[in-house]
Amino acid sequence: MKENSQSPITISVIKADIGGYVGHSASHPEIIDLAEDKLKKAKKEELLIDFYVTSCGDDLELIMTHRQGKDSEKIHKLAWDTFMACTELARELKLYGAGQDMLADAFSGNVKGMGPGVAEMSFVERKSEPVIVFCGDKCAPGAWNLPLFKIFADPFNTIGLVIDPTMHDGFRFEVHDVFEGRDMILSCPEEMYDLLVLIGSPENYVIKNVYKKDGEIAATSSTQKLALIAGRYVGKDDPVMMVRCQSGFPAVGEVLEAFAFPHLVSGWMRGSHYGPLMPVAQREATPSRFDGPPRVIALGFQLAEGKLIGPRDMFDDPGFDLARKEANRLAEFMRRHGPFEPHRLGLKEMEYTTLPQVLKKLLEREKQG
Ligand code: F6R
Ligand code: MG
Ligand code: MG
Repeated sequence: MKENSQSPITISVIKADIGGYVGHSASHPEIIDLAEDKLKKAKKEELLIDFYVTSCGDDLELIMTHRQGKDSEKIHKLAWDTFMACTELARELKLYGAGQDMLADAFSGNVKGMGPGVAEMSFVERKSEPVIVFCGDKCAPGAWNLPLFKIFADPFNTIGLVIDPTMHDGFRFEVHDVFEGRDMILSCPEEMYDLLVLIGSPENYVIKNVYKKDGEIAATSSTQKLALIAGRYVGKDDPVMMVRCQSGFPAVGEVLEAFAFPHLVSGWMRGSHYGPLMPVAQREATPSRFDGPPRVIALGFQLAEGKLIGPRDMFDDPGFDLARKEANRLAEFMRRHGPFEPHRLGLKEMEYTTLPQVLKKLLEREKQG
């Protein structure tokens, strides 16, 4: 394909926890430097148009633009090799949980199902293309359900749905059934109540993509569940998502507005607790209290022929001070429940933690009388 502004570009955000500094609280600066070196080389070789490396808590995020399309073996291998090199360094530094998310021994064509989380979208770049990349830590993929609903279906959040004729038709949501592996499309506003039946259970149903009614991609998220891949508890999945903004999509401020409400998500300590999702600047994406509270960062970019102009650290703004305060207040309230539900997850969700091992022993003791 001739590479001009009419040929689609792809943004791939591929992430993994390859080791934490200290404990599960952050990434080590040398890890970020190493990942940058690897991607710099790939940019020089013209595999990537551009890249940006960041971290949210103990997760390393590779934000890459290219013209290889989604699910490209070359791009996925680049990410895999980068994570492997970073894992090696993490082992040298004895960082905590080195190689935590690298669940496969060798790369086999696509990182999906091998541990890392993936969100990718391809589109023809518009005259101006603002995109926001969100990264979460100490939470699960369903954490995006509520904000995505607010952004693309709730007129109390997004006034553009009411007064902008280019958005007034609404959007389509592609919902992934985590346990059955099926995908369903629901159209809003017509099927809003049906959509809510599903996405109100974020452990079971996760919004994977959002489209305009004409089929244009608007947002995408990572939906990989580590525990289901590994068959055992391996930490929370700490998802990423991307949202296109302005001119027919929600405005940057409408997209960010959804995070002014620090809603409760599952994750936090040992992936076993409900806690508020706190919007923070990247430098504050270092979960500490009770390994949390869960964090979300928002990096804004303008694309210019695939070049990533930015980022702007979108939650680094006093406009989100109140949300942070509210999140801390809620965190305190939830913490006071200690090991009790509904702070601790219900037994069904605890199946994917280390609790069943303890429970098994206890039940055996009961049997012996
Ligand atoms: C949650 C998380 C941490 C750990 C906790 C125990 O996603 O990563 O809260 O679950 O610090 O960690 P281990 O079992 O590695 O000692
Ligand atoms: Mg970790
Ligand atoms: Mg993490």
